[in-house]
Amino acid sequence: MMKEKKIELSFMSAHLSELDQKDQELIANAKDAFVTAYAPYSGFLVGSSILLENGEIINGSNQENVAYPSGLCAERVAMFYVGARFPNIKISTIAVSVFSKSFDVTDVISPCGACRQVMAEYEEKQQKPIKVILHSPTDNVLIANKVQDLLPFMFKSPHLKMH
Ligand code: THU
Repeated sequence: MMKEKKIELSFMSAHLSELDQKDQELIANAKDAFVTAYAPYSGFLVGSSILLENGEIINGSNQENVAYPSGLCAERVAMFYVGARFPNIKISTIAVSVFSKSFDVTDVISPCGACRQVMAEYEEKQQKPIKVILHSPTDNVLIANKVQDLLPFMFKSPHLKMH
């Protein structure tokens, strides 16, 4: 029988000053990271900062290309670096901060679907939630305690397997 199903998501909306020192520091890193963005086409600078369980911090920024689809978002630049360099260390948190050279960004931006899929798969792989902190130039912050809350219908690897 046709049945309605509901999904419950949870996130926190906050001001930067309400976060604990560790999270504020990670956001400061993400802000430093967007300065390294190569974004001559969009003027939209994105910085990401990943905290690993061993205390290591890896930053990324968006890298564009004149062949537009060849570019990569800040989140995946950092995520793939972590996957390649620290394949067995779990990710605790990713902070993302944005800035536009052409307009005022007044609220947080949500990572694109491709980045959410990539973050969600690393979360599945490590069997532990990854906290996502999104930060705007106005110091608005959105916190999701797991990537799954940002991508409830993720494509999972079992979907690829033959049964
Ligand atoms: N971008 C990111 O780096 N992360 C996001 O979450 C959204 C978009 C980049 C891609 C492109 O370089 C620019 O922002 C404009 O879309």
